Amino acid sequence: MSAGDRGKLPSHVAFIMDGNGRWAKKRMLPRKMGHRQGVKALERVVDACAERGIGMVTFYAFSTENWARPQEEIDALFDMVAEFADTRMTEYVRRGFRVMFMGELSALPDKTKDAIARISAAAKDNTGMIVNIALNYGGRDEILRAVRTVVGSGVKDVDEQTLSDCMYTAGLPDPDVIVRSSGEKRLSNFMLWQAAYSEFVFMDDMWPDFGAEQVDAVLKEYASRDRRYGSVKRIG
Ligand code: FPP
Repeated sequence: MSAGDRGKLPSHVAFIMDGNGRWAKKRMLPRKMGHRQGVKALERVVDACAERGIGMVTFYAFSTENWARPQEEIDALFDMVAEFADTRMTEYVRRGFRVMFMGELSALPDKTKDAIARISAAAKDNTGMIVNIALNYGGRDEILRAVRTVVGSGVKDVDEQTLSDCMYTAGLPDPDVIVRSSGEKRLSNFMLWQAAYSEFVFMDDMWPDFGAEQVDAVLKEYASRDRRYGSVKRIG
């Protein structure tokens, strides 16, 4: 472990919330009940991360590929996002959290877009922990969007910073650690640009079972990792 990272808290933890469907199926419940419990897990994880002093948390709530799901499930998910924005996020704003949503939001139902716009406006002057929700988000789509912006701007001298500045996360830290629940071990088009040096933690727990205990396991695992960013191991 490099001296700089030993025992350090990550600044940014990103979560791929997987396993809601399997959690529900095991209990013979409709898939949307799994997502509903998933929202409760998200709330527990936000609280645990805030208590432990993490600066930014990102949650993958809906991918550009998730439109292939049954319409009833899609509608239920966007209703939950609208409800979450109007209720729990209102409390987050009171607690000083910054809230942000990344993805192609124009395609979302009006009710969800309106709730997002209201809560984003209410949080605009906050300076606390950032709660970032990825909605209709795809990593390749984000990179393409950035390339198009740069090409459209006519800038010729393009470097990494130029593209980073066009990502949804411009000016924010890359995830130090990306966590995926439910035993699956892939990125599924999540934060492809930002994941360049992220640590990965794959956990067997289904997302609806996540809470403070899993957050602590992630932090312990992260603290044990040796982050070298392509350099060699430093002694001492
Ligand atoms: C993946 O599990 C989960 C999703 C695609 C949706 C995650 C969304 C939430 C937890 C709710 C989001 C709401 C707010 C308020 C941000 P899956 O359904 O693919 O599970 P499976 O692989 O077991 O079928």
